[in-house]
Amino acid sequence: MKRGAFITLEGPEGCGKTTQIQRLAERVRASGRPLLLTREPGGTRTGEAIRQLLQHDSSDAEMNPRTETLLFCASRAQIVAQVIRPALEQGTWVLCDRFTDSTLAYQGYGRGFALDELRAMNRFATGGLAPDLTILLDVPVEESFRRLAARAAQSDRIERAAREFHERLRAGYLELAAAEPARFQVLNSLASLEQTSAEIWRLVQQRFGASEYAG
Ligand code: TMP
Repeated sequence: MKRGAFITLEGPEGCGKTTQIQRLAERVRASGRPLLLTREPGGTRTGEAIRQLLQHDSSDAEMNPRTETLLFCASRAQIVAQVIRPALEQGTWVLCDRFTDSTLAYQGYGRGFALDELRAMNRFATGGLAPDLTILLDVPVEESFRRLAARAAQSDRIERAAREFHERLRAGYLELAAAEPARFQVLNSLASLEQTSAEIWRLVQQRFGASEYAG
């Protein structure tokens, strides 16, 4: 059986990633392909528990950044083994909201951990599984902060981090994309929601073929 396509969406908070991945999922489903939509951290019972730990750390002491990094990787190990790999092997397409590049961007470029160490951790967590296509929704820091302010009530510990962090994050994502042009597609998320979702669908069809499953 043909392995399913593995597509990830990446970008900073406020880039519109979650809305876009939902739209893409609707289009993939409508084209008749079996699909699994999931997210990181989360997507499994263990992963959702880890997500809660990461998002609701309201204690005075900040979670140690190394602990945080290991928790992201722990959630990833679980979702790959339990959900993503089996689905792909059955021919199901997998769309994942964040994956290994988030660790490189946030913990690497953002927090300053060594990229080679993070890459080794990602490899350990995923057993070497990499996305076939990664769509990066790039948005200027000014704009993502403006969007985040509009939903300030949802802001979590990481979203409150400094603006400089987000500048490094954006530059880091763009560097990752430039280093792997065959896997990454960078979209400017200042375009309208409709334009961006149409462009994402075009890219996906171009990469994986429009007619294969369409009936
Ligand atoms: P999201 O719901 O906007 O995707 O938020 C998840 C948060 O977790 C976001 O701040 C990015 C962060 N994150 C990391 O720092 N490293 C990671 O490896 C992943 C998957 C997420």
